[in-house]
Amino acid sequence: MTAKRIDGKATAADLRAAVALEVDELEEKHRFTPGLAVVLVGEDPASQVYVGAKHKATLEVGMKSFEHRLPADTSEAKLLDLVQQLNSRDDVDGILVQLPLPKHVDATRILDAIDPKKDVDGFHALNAGLLAAGRAALVPCTPVGAMRLIRQTLPHIAGLHAVIVGRSNIVGKPMAQLLLAADCTVTIAHSKTRGLPAIVRQADIVVAAVGRPEMIRGDWIKPGATVIDVGINRLPGADGSKGRLVGDVAFAEAEKVAGAITPVPGGVGPMTIACLLANTIQAAKARRGLS
Ligand code: GUN
Repeated sequence: MTAKRIDGKATAADLRAAVALEVDELEEKHRFTPGLAVVLVGEDPASQVYVGAKHKATLEVGMKSFEHRLPADTSEAKLLDLVQQLNSRDDVDGILVQLPLPKHVDATRILDAIDPKKDVDGFHALNAGLLAAGRAALVPCTPVGAMRLIRQTLPHIAGLHAVIVGRSNIVGKPMAQLLLAADCTVTIAHSKTRGLPAIVRQADIVVAAVGRPEMIRGDWIKPGATVIDVGINRLPGADGSKGRLVGDVAFAEAEKVAGAITPVPGGVGPMTIACLLANTIQAAKARRGLS
């Protein structure tokens, strides 16, 4: 058996098209254009690529994009000042501060300074708490995107056992909350979990978000399981060149056992930016009391 490949690229394109329609509708009926502000501090090459991609995608759906690229030595006070300015601007519906921040800046202080109503990353402690309490919140984009792929693959997930490998605030923990809210039985495992292969073998749904290239092997997968690979790892290439991108799952092995699986690239990755745009619409509407 070969697993069905879950096409995140196509699903993300559909979601971006739906967001573009909503932008048109908000302009026509409510006379405003949603706006997203993205803040990048420093010259981290991967962050520069992500921020550029977010800017392009935001403009493509017809929203306003406000990019703030600041030097690596920007002080915490100056960054807090910018966040406050963006909080108070009426044309800014969403604020995203790209991580990682330089070491001299306390990332938690910056994230908690963002108005929770504009926190389209869902990283503010208030949004994390609302999600954990099962209340309306802005939810981190990567787990929301993964959840959309799970729902599209498995229409009835109540009672299924989901095993998440990874416990980060950005993916593992919010993913667990979303799956719990969908009535799954949820196990959160991580890199220090003992007997990890046997635990993963129990899963109807595996979410791999541990950040270790190809750690999850094919013989850890229960036949027919749905495998969602959140990892994006660059393998070292020959002679210092860029190697291949791989996930946290050994794809070629797992594909022979799973029922459905996300590829890397082209699985969860494209969903993240599409969900960021959807979160910006959600924030724009909620702030104005629109349903
Ligand atoms: N760095 C890597 N992924 C993300 C993300 O989803 N949001 C932010 N703000 N920074 C990131």
